Formats: sequence, C-alpha cells, structure tokens
Amino acid sequence: MKKRLNIGALFAAALLLGSGPAAAEESFEGWLLNFQRTKEVKPVSNKRYQEECGSCHYAYPAGLLPAKSWEKLLTAEALKKHFGDNAELDAATLQSVRDYVLENSADKSWYKRSRKIARATAEGEAPLRITEVSYIKRVHRDIPEAKIKGNKNVKSLSYCDKCHMQADKGVFDDDTVRIPSQD
Ligand code: HEC
Ligand code: HEC
Repeated sequence: MKKRLNIGALFAAALLLGSGPAAAEESFEGWLLNFQRTKEVKPVSNKRYQEECGSCHYAYPAGLLPAKSWEKLLTAEALKKHFGDNAELDAATLQSVRDYVLENSADKSWYKRSRKIARATAEGEAPLRITEVSYIKRVHRDIPEAKIKGNKNVKSLSYCDKCHMQADKGVFDDDTVRIPSQD
C-alpha cells in the first residue's frame, strides 16, 4: 500500500513539473509520463532529417547512436564519402540536420534502447555504424548471413526496416520482427 502511494505521488509531481507536450519529450518528468513509449527509441520527429537522410535507407532514429558518432558522420567532408556514396548537404541543411540529431542522440535520450546503446558505446572509439555497436551486434549474432547479405530483400543489416516492421516508429521488439523470404 505504501509503495502504491509513493508511485502516485511521483506521478503527481511529474504532472505538476511537466509543462506540455514539447517539454514532455525532453525532460525526466516527460519520460515518466510517457513511460510506455520510452521502452523503445524515440522515432524521427524532424521533417528535414526524414527527407535528407531517408532516401537511400530508412531514416535512422537519432537515438540509435551516441553524439560522438553523429559528430563524425555529419560533417561536410564525411558526407562526401558516406559508405561509398555521396550524401552531401548544403551548409544550412547540414547544420539543421546535425543540430536535430545531436539533441536526440542516444546519450541524451531517456528511451530504454537508447540507454543501452549509450552504455554500450560509453567507452572507446565512436562507432560509425549502428550495426557496429556491441549491443546491436549481439542481438543479431544468431541470424545466418544467408538471411541477411544473401537475401536480396534485405541486402545488409543496415536496412533495419526490412525486418523490423515498426522501425519507423522506433520499435524493435521481438513481436514486430519478420525476416523477409528470399524471393
Ligand atoms: C546517397 C545515398 C545515401 C544518403 C542520402 C544517406 N545515406 Fe546513410 N548510408 C548509405 C549507404 C549506402 C550506407 C551503407 C549501407 C550498407 O552498408 O549496406 C549508409 C549507412 C548509414 C549509416 C550506418 C548504418 C549501419 O550500418 O549501422 C548511418 C548511421 C547513416 N547511413 C546515416 C545517414 C544520415 C544521417 C544521412 C543524412 C545526412 C544519410 N545516411 C544519408 C547511403 C546514404
Ligand atoms: C535480417 C533482418 C534484420 C535486420 C536487417 C535488422 N534486424 Fe534487428 N533483429 C532481427 C531479429 C530476427 C532479432 C531477434 C528477435 C528475437 O530476439 O527474437 C532482432 C533483434 C533486434 C533488437 C533487440 C530486440 C529485443 O527484443 O530486445 C534490436 C534493438 C534490433 N534488432 C535493432 C535493429 C536495428 C537498429 C537494425 C538496423 C541497424 C536492425 N535491428 C536490423 C532482425 C533484423
């Protein structure tokens, strides 16, 4: 009984502290209010990012990499040689995309999977790929290569949305995974 009362008080405090939906995304109080959604990763909420970074592959939620990784990926120089492609942006667009991503990176997020990614990347070199993060490597290690690289409907592990049906909502739980068949 005592425990329940305490949780009630916590929520009341969160309600008082929270100041509308905008604040709810960033603050600890907001995290409490939205605790159901925060099990996963915050979905992309920026139109420019969605358009510029979602044309060759699905637009990765910013909370899938720490800021130190995005800082390396999102420079004018780096984007000219982006995994063998040219993903150059004009200076103003790059600035706004970069600002958005850095504000929402894994190490700044309360979302549960982002916390895991932040922990997995806290030490050492910044990974340039989500698929190089130890936590992400581990959860996929039992999938045979034939179902990934050998599968023309997937191509590589980078195409999260081919298997994770709700990747665009930032949801990666095992109820929403389906590896496409090869034909
Ligand atoms: C011209 C096409 C193109 C555009 C535009 C593009 N990318 Fe990519 N991106 C790629 C390719 C190709 C890969 C490598 C895919 C693979 O290895 O199968 C990649 C990989 C990535 C990865 C690593 C994925 C992994 O394997 O974990 C990240 C992160 C990424 N891109 C972010 C971005 C961001 C942010 C933008 C917007 C600034 C962007 N990309 C725009 C082509 C593009
Ligand atoms: C070839 C299909 C495939 C691709 C592509 C893929 N995944 Fe997965 N993913 C899976 C499967 C299968 C599982 C294991 C589900 C289970 O545990 O039963 C999984 C598990 C996960 C989990 C753990 C889920 C949990 O319940 O804890 C996360 C997080 C995840 N994937 C993220 C990603 C991200 C991010 C990408 C893209 C960079 C990606 N995946 C690309 C198939 C894929």
